Amino acid sequence: MKRDGIVKQCIVYYSKTGNTESVAKKFKDFDLLQIKANSDDPNIQNPTLTVIPEIKGYEYVVFATPVHGFQISKVMKTYLETITDYKDAIIDLYITHFFPFAWMGGNSSLNQMKKIIESKGGKVRNMTSVNWKNRKKDQTIQRMIEEYHA
Ligand SMILES: Cc1cc2nc3c(=O)[nH]c(=O)nc-3n(C[C@H](O)[C@H](O)[C@H](O)COP(=O)(O)O)c2cc1C
Repeated sequence: MKRDGIVKQCIVYYSKTGNTESVAKKFKDFDLLQIKANSDDPNIQNPTLTVIPEIKGYEYVVFATPVHGFQISKVMKTYLETITDYKDAIIDLYITHFFPFAWMGGNSSLNQMKKIIESKGGKVRNMTSVNWKNRKKDQTIQRMIEEYHA
């Protein structure tokens, strides 16, 4: 934390249908940086990114993506593999998904993100899976917002 108490923090997210973005908007005092690609077709293996948010200068970064086909979205995967400035920030993650069990994409997607980030020298601290169908979804989001800070 900076001496004046203000931390430079952001959420870098991809959202195809708005769920992941709606969670990001619940965080207060974060810059919301949306990754964009030339197509939102989840079947495209190597999408071309048209907006590549810069995390350099941020002390705290949350990366967030939907699960697509038991994995993180290809847009987020391409983004995480593209950027290099992981070392300076505290990093937390969340994913949103739909299927009822964590093993149906939630856990493996979080681990997939962690692995990419760590392979590039970053350190991941907290990880949260937000299941859109779970009746405790709002509590999960609230708890995450309370826990996630630098
Ligand atoms: C093409 C596609 C594949 C998906 N695959 C999965 C999956 O494997 N597991 C899962 O739990 N949810 C899956 N979902 C559901 C999304 O992860 C979920 O609705 C998510 O909250 C969407 O986030 P968004 O609105 O930010 O795009 C899939 C959705 C789409 C469109």
